[in-house]
Amino acid sequence: MGGIVVFGAGGRAGRAVTAEARGRGHEVTAVVRDPARYPGLATAGVTVVRGDVTDAESVARVAGGRCAAVHTVSPFSGPEQGFDSLDPTFFVKAADALLDGLAVAGAKRLVAVGLGANLLGADGRPVMDDPAVFPAEIRPFALAHTAGLARLRERGDGPVDWVMLTPAGFLEHGGERTGRYRVGGERVPGGEPWLSYADLAVAVIDEIDRPVRHRERVSVFSFREGAGTTWDQCGERGKNHI
Ligand SMILES: NC(=O)c1ccc[n+]([C@@H]2O[C@H](COP(=O)([O-])OP(=O)(O)OC[C@H]3O[C@@H](n4cnc5c(N)ncnc54)[C@H](OP(=O)(O)O)[C@@H]3O)[C@@H](O)[C@H]2O)c1
Repeated sequence: MGGIVVFGAGGRAGRAVTAEARGRGHEVTAVVRDPARYPGLATAGVTVVRGDVTDAESVARVAGGRCAAVHTVSPFSGPEQGFDSLDPTFFVKAADALLDGLAVAGAKRLVAVGLGANLLGADGRPVMDDPAVFPAEIRPFALAHTAGLARLRERGDGPVDWVMLTPAGFLEHGGERTGRYRVGGERVPGGEPWLSYADLAVAVIDEIDRPVRHRERVSVFSFREGAGTTWDQCGERGKNHI
């Protein structure tokens, strides 16, 4: 048994995780809802399959033979999409289906990507509860994400060893892969935290290759070169894979 199954493999984080996994020699099962929409996704070592992260049978089927899974699925890809079709239980369903389906498949590790809106701001409130820093119209999505994290925590002692990596600030599509990141806790770090999708992927695959965090949520972030930071308050240094 080996290799990684990536849910949401056609998205921004999913593509970055797939590339990072391949760069380290992992075989990847790339899960999308409609393979016909992703003609360029299948490459050497990447098998594209149809699947649904909210369906435990589907998860068990596509994860068969894989030792680890990554959850980068989002039902909401940008404000222009609106919220009419948002299922507030989406991330809870995904958490249940992943924990149940991966257990059946025998995949023991799950790395999920979280949302910075449910980290705590300077005043101790979740960022999503402060309309001055987080747009009220996106709050339903943040609440849905947060419910998924709560479900993982509720079910934390099962056979699947999960971790949620939450980007603590701006997540830049197309940003540079530096191979460096920092790991923090529940609070948004001071300064202007930022991370490229490529470095998020480095953190994700690190937690599969050498798991350090177990059944908990942590924040991951970096700072732009030269930006004011409070690095000394922000936990351990990420590993450098350059
Ligand atoms: N700073 C932050 O905290 C921050 C910033 C950005 C993103 N994020 C989080 O990071 C994660 C990844 O975001 P992203 O930017 O990579 O999103 P994205 O580019 O929109 O990709 C999400 C993918 O999910 C797939 N998907 C939707 N419903 C699905 C289902 N039922 N089963 C399987 N796949 C499904 C979609 O593919 P199909 O439509 O083809 O199925 C899409 O490719 C999300 O949890 C997002 O909320 C956090």
